[in-house]
Amino acid sequence: MGDAVALIVEGLKKSYGNLRVLDGVTFSVEKGEFVCLIGESGCGKTTILKIIAGLEKPDGGRVEFAGGARMGFVFQDDRLLPWKTVYGNILFALRASGIEDGGVVREIIDAVGLRGFENYYPKQLSGGMRQRVGIARALAVNPDLLLMDEPFASLDARTRERMQEELLRIVEGKTVVFVTHSIDEAVYLADRVVVLSPRPSRVLRIVEVDIEKPRDRNSEEFIEKRKEIYSALKP
Ligand SMILES: Nc1ncnc2c1ncn2[C@@H]1O[C@H](COP(=O)(O)OP(=O)(O)OP(=O)(O)O)[C@@H](O)[C@H]1O
Ligand SMILES: [Mg+2]
Repeated sequence: MGDAVALIVEGLKKSYGNLRVLDGVTFSVEKGEFVCLIGESGCGKTTILKIIAGLEKPDGGRVEFAGGARMGFVFQDDRLLPWKTVYGNILFALRASGIEDGGVVREIIDAVGLRGFENYYPKQLSGGMRQRVGIARALAVNPDLLLMDEPFASLDARTRERMQEELLRIVEGKTVVFVTHSIDEAVYLADRVVVLSPRPSRVLRIVEVDIEKPRDRNSEEFIEKRKEIYSALKP
């Protein structure tokens, strides 16, 4: 694997009983690249992330990272510990990775815009704020690879756009694999978009989004990219 490559996913196959979910999924991610996986509900996106993270085993194919990659996972549901505060949730993740808090937790809380809410419990936060805690928790271990599973799917349109803007600032320079079924979100965030077929999933096309960030959703090039991905999804 070359120096510039962070992750190789090759020929992943996976079935659950008789249900074929992945049918040879192949793509790679470069260091510092933001890659979106897009595909319809149930096509196997979460399964791909779980296999990358080692939470599921594939039936075939392989995953390779650049030496000892540390991963952060932002789950589709926020999975916060309800009995721990914002601070406590992030600290818990840090300690689980064997890292002690040398001020990192406060730094991360600032970065995701939650200063002042350190002592709040998850149920006292809005949906967007809970997602920020989930992102903070994943970032706390300073991951080489950040896996994000539709973290903004449950947010209203305006909050979602604001979170997308903030996310690009927060993860600047990090290697990210971000799952979405929103074409707009993929075109806004990604350097490249991996377009998946309906189940069993294969890669239909990989679309490069060569538009400078931050991107203007109303620009002609943005709208063109959206069309390109739309037609790749519906061949
Ligand atoms: N542990 C499991 N046992 C059995 N079937 C599973 C399991 N996990 C996932 N599946 C099945 O695999 C298929 C793909 O699921 P997956 O969660 O990867 O889809 P997805 O692309 O993330 O969908 P969504 O966009 O709705 O989140 C689904 O049909 C699901 O029912
Ligand atoms: Mg999913």
